[in-house]
Amino acid sequence: MKPTPTDSPAAVLAAILSDSFVRASFAGATRAGASPWERVAVRPVELQGVKHWQVASFDGRKTQTKNLADPAGVLTDLLALQFAGVHVTTTTEELDLRTTKKGAVTLSRQAAGSAPAELTHNRLKDVPLPEGRADRVLEVMGILTAGGQVKPTMRAKYTQINEFLKQLTHALAPSGLRDLGRPLTVLDCGCGASYLTIAAHHYLNDILGVRATLLGVDINEEVIRKSVTRADKLPGAGLTFACQPIGAADVPADIVLALHACDTATDDALAQAVRSGARLVLSVPCCHHALNAELAAAGPAAALAPLFRHGILRERTADLVTDAFRAAALRVMGYRTDVVEFVSPEHTARNLMIRATLGGSVNPDAAAEYVALRDFWGVAPTIERRLGEAFAARLKPVLTPG
Ligand SMILES: C[S@@+](CC[C@H](N)C(=O)[O-])C[C@H]1O[C@@H](n2cnc3c(N)ncnc32)[C@H](O)[C@@H]1O
Repeated sequence: MKPTPTDSPAAVLAAILSDSFVRASFAGATRAGASPWERVAVRPVELQGVKHWQVASFDGRKTQTKNLADPAGVLTDLLALQFAGVHVTTTTEELDLRTTKKGAVTLSRQAAGSAPAELTHNRLKDVPLPEGRADRVLEVMGILTAGGQVKPTMRAKYTQINEFLKQLTHALAPSGLRDLGRPLTVLDCGCGASYLTIAAHHYLNDILGVRATLLGVDINEEVIRKSVTRADKLPGAGLTFACQPIGAADVPADIVLALHACDTATDDALAQAVRSGARLVLSVPCCHHALNAELAAAGPAAALAPLFRHGILRERTADLVTDAFRAAALRVMGYRTDVVEFVSPEHTARNLMIRATLGGSVNPDAAAEYVALRDFWGVAPTIERRLGEAFAARLKPVLTPG
């Protein structure tokens, strides 16, 4: 970005008020106590057919959200607070206003995607990260073109991420995470190329105005290297990656995400969530191999021999049984759990999501139900081993009553 000497906060205000405005963020203090807000996110929204500016202000404890039809006064006041960094995205350019501790102000502008986006059109596509308008983060991720169009090869991933983020949004308030009074800590397990990690960081911080730090972990060095390179090109803090097994992630996560963590990596992610006391777990399992090798039409399950005669039926049964054990085990550990189709199968065949929220009292029937399922199949599921002693302790009253 080239600094342009004649620019001023007025140019930033004009960009936010313009028809091409996409989003803005205000963050960082130039001096202690200069601003009541740690961070402010602004975006256009349409309410009853009228364009408004949604201003989400985070004071370090909670977020205050206002929808304003005439935001000029509020924005002028915000600019007067002299945040260290103000970043504005429009459909045609990126503006970056920097203020030093001594009060020196610089504005940099860079031409960006030029596809104009009708607000009404975007509202119709009511998804967390809409297409049709420039988004620097999604562009750096290689999902959108500079003009805001989804690259054809990225359509499936783009849709998966949007649907995943919808689930995250819906679960935030019920799990008590919307106004926690501190930034959220989010762990993405088996992050791969980190599309979900980066998108979730962007969505929470820049669009919802919910402060969150994200850590993506993966055992593949190459994907972590690529993720770090991508994140380095983006503004904003609190996005980190580590090359390590999921089970070694030492982070007190409030939210644990896992999108297609292979085979037993999903069990690792769920166990990690339980160890952290994560309030919310969203996990989309991928290939299920471990239990497939163990399942047999024997004992109480002998009548299921016809199901095991056909490879594809056996495979699908193993998938369903594995996820049933996982959901049941989370219930034993005090989570309210359900399993949903988070996206239509045309975008991924692996489209079941285990949604779990840590809640109140432990269901008294959960342990008995788990043991009955295990006795029926005569297997020792991986999730049980990963949860270890804490899980065994919950089953003990069922196994050794009295
Ligand atoms: C199918 S990819 C999914 C990547 C990403 N979440 C996505 O949906 O685009 C699964 C990733 O999990 C990683 N993985 C598998 N087992 C793991 C483990 N035990 N710990 C950390 N990462 C693991 C793999 O290296 C791979 O990058």
